[in-house]
Amino acid sequence: MLWPFFVRLEIDRDAQGVAKPMLRVGYPATLGAEFLRDLPQDVELVPLAHPLEHDVNIDVWIADPYVNRSIAAWPRLHGVRLVLSLMAGTEWIPSTCGPHVTICNAHGAHNISTAEWTVSAILATLKHFPFYFEMQREGVWNRRFESPARYAAITGDNRPLYPPVMLEELTGKTVLMVGHGAIGQEIERMLTPFHLEMLRVARTARADPQVHAVSELDSLLPQADAVVLILPLNAESKGLIGSHQLALMKQGALLVNAARGPIVDTDALVDALQAGRIRAALDVTDPEPLPDGHPLWSCPNLLLTPHIAGSTPQFAPRALETALGELRRYMAGEPLHNAVQIGI
Ligand SMILES: NC(=O)c1ccc[n+]([C@@H]2O[C@H](COP(=O)([O-])OP(=O)(O)OC[C@H]3O[C@@H](n4cnc5c(N)ncnc54)[C@H](OP(=O)(O)O)[C@@H]3O)[C@@H](O)[C@H]2O)c1
Repeated sequence: MLWPFFVRLEIDRDAQGVAKPMLRVGYPATLGAEFLRDLPQDVELVPLAHPLEHDVNIDVWIADPYVNRSIAAWPRLHGVRLVLSLMAGTEWIPSTCGPHVTICNAHGAHNISTAEWTVSAILATLKHFPFYFEMQREGVWNRRFESPARYAAITGDNRPLYPPVMLEELTGKTVLMVGHGAIGQEIERMLTPFHLEMLRVARTARADPQVHAVSELDSLLPQADAVVLILPLNAESKGLIGSHQLALMKQGALLVNAARGPIVDTDALVDALQAGRIRAALDVTDPEPLPDGHPLWSCPNLLLTPHIAGSTPQFAPRALETALGELRRYMAGEPLHNAVQIGI
């Protein structure tokens, strides 16, 4: 829990000419006004269009979840002391807005949506849904007989299995979760009914449940059937999964990245996928958006979604509730719950 800097209050006057403090809060105009009910008193809402074509003075900025729009709007914004992000990942904000702003993320607002995406991505891969969807689109029932060969090629399991292997089971598998914060814990809660073995990694080791320090990552990778990345992008996590780490993964193991693209070395991942060494499910890539013709688009054994894991209809109300809670605390001079940077 971090303490904010003092709020800069502008002086306005009510009908009787009595001075009252006003806090100008800028928000994306595309956000429905119904999300901004129950605001603290003395807040003036300032809708921010995209593109923003004039300069605006605001104290608090609810940044557009579309990062490119927010980065484009920033030079037009003046006086911002507090940035309320609707996202969990805020890595772009300090470099865009500088050290003088306080930044809060929407910690917790993406837990359910991102965890459900992760569980779906693991199951979809083990149940070979991308292949069966391809078969459905082609309308060729008999293509199912390609499944045993696909299974043998990616897992290296060449035993003559009967009946032929058409898909795989999650139950009993070993999942290595890299990052065990709010979303990681929600993923674990959802995976628990599958009676699998869970290995956990975070910055620092701890017990109950056992969490390993990230320094132990390399020794844990060979044990995992699925490696789930759900940690922030920071100086230490950039490139955390490179060619060495990918080579340590089991033949056919699944790498799930629901976190941020640059945590994985893209070239090394492309090499590993093209060599048929591992499988991957990515909601995030480096670069983003993934350009036309990028090799990842056509890699085998890859399930790709365009950074949508957190985006459900329930996300905006939850993220706004979190942001407005921070706004109330900020105005009351109380400790902020989700500050990732305190303005200097
Ligand atoms: N794809 C999407 O749409 C989507 C949606 C939401 C979030 N995300 C991403 O998911 C990330 C995690 O969100 P969260 O709410 O779970 O965050 P969180 O509650 O802050 O937890 C972060 C976890 O990552 C660990 N960690 C941080 N830096 C690390 C490093 N360098 N090496 C190893 N572990 C590290 C932390 O370790 P300690 O516990 O030891 O501190 C903690 O366990 C976000 O930062 C965001 O980038 C993506």
